[in-house]
Amino acid sequence: MGLLVGLLVGFKKPRRPIPGLVLAGTIEDAGKKVTRFKVGDEVFAFTVKSLIQLRVGTYAEYMCLPEDSLMALKPSNLTYEEAAALPYGGLLALYFLKKGPIQSGQNVLIYGASGAIGTAAVQLAKHFGATVTGVCSTANVALVQSLGADTVLDYTKEDFTTSGQRYDFILNAVGKRKAQLQCENSLTPNGKHVTVDDEYTKPHLEDFILLKELAETGQLKPVIDRSYPLEQMVEAHTYVDQGHKKGNVVITV
Ligand SMILES: NC(=O)c1ccc[n+]([C@@H]2O[C@H](COP(=O)([O-])OP(=O)(O)OC[C@H]3O[C@@H](n4cnc5c(N)ncnc54)[C@H](OP(=O)(O)O)[C@@H]3O)[C@@H](O)[C@H]2O)c1
Repeated sequence: MGLLVGLLVGFKKPRRPIPGLVLAGTIEDAGKKVTRFKVGDEVFAFTVKSLIQLRVGTYAEYMCLPEDSLMALKPSNLTYEEAAALPYGGLLALYFLKKGPIQSGQNVLIYGASGAIGTAAVQLAKHFGATVTGVCSTANVALVQSLGADTVLDYTKEDFTTSGQRYDFILNAVGKRKAQLQCENSLTPNGKHVTVDDEYTKPHLEDFILLKELAETGQLKPVIDRSYPLEQMVEAHTYVDQGHKKGNVVITV
């Protein structure tokens, strides 16, 4: 896997020097055969289709993408910043919630409910009809409640793995490197425990369109912690690297 990733993204230095895989903006120009989009369309996009179709480079004023990219007209009720905050956490949350798959009436726990993936996962699990418990730190309890979680647990005060409560699905949206959950005793007999770094995800266009539709109907609200201008990219990454952002950090150009 390491060799494959090296071949794709570069060994000693990145093959593509400009990072970034999410964007929202206006179509400035389109090829003659393009039918899905026209000049002036307001769009948002996720520029990775698969591990071998890594088209990074959105930290820039312009980005050239094929017509069949994960790209769609921006929901008119969202700003560009909000639209850009939709795909990353939303696609990952959908991908892993489908591992359940989440069904109406199930008890679902989202660990790391205040991050980019977690804030989307709480809202999406509610959309699928689950009863949702979100786990986060004290500062984020109100945020996670506002996203519709039925119960919010503060991990600095209580440990859900010893409460006796059982869940049909537990999503660790923090990742194994920061949080190894020993939660087998918190699962129902057929319950599942999934971690967001269990595997590399393959985003799907149908999921991208579902996110757009849920945002248009107000069922999915992108959470933005901070916005930074492009010139303050270093400050933005320094903040994100602390690992405690609330939802998403957006770069404005
Ligand atoms: N599979 C894939 O393709 C893929 C792609 C990208 C990322 N990922 C994984 O997804 C993870 C989450 O990404 P993200 O962008 O959603 O992260 P994020 O926005 O930085 O959110 C992480 C959340 O975790 C919480 N947290 C941090 N340390 C914690 C700890 N020790 N215990 C409990 N909660 C903790 C933080 O909440 P508090 O401030 O309340 O603590 C924060 O809100 C990444 O770390 C990575 O492992 C996987």
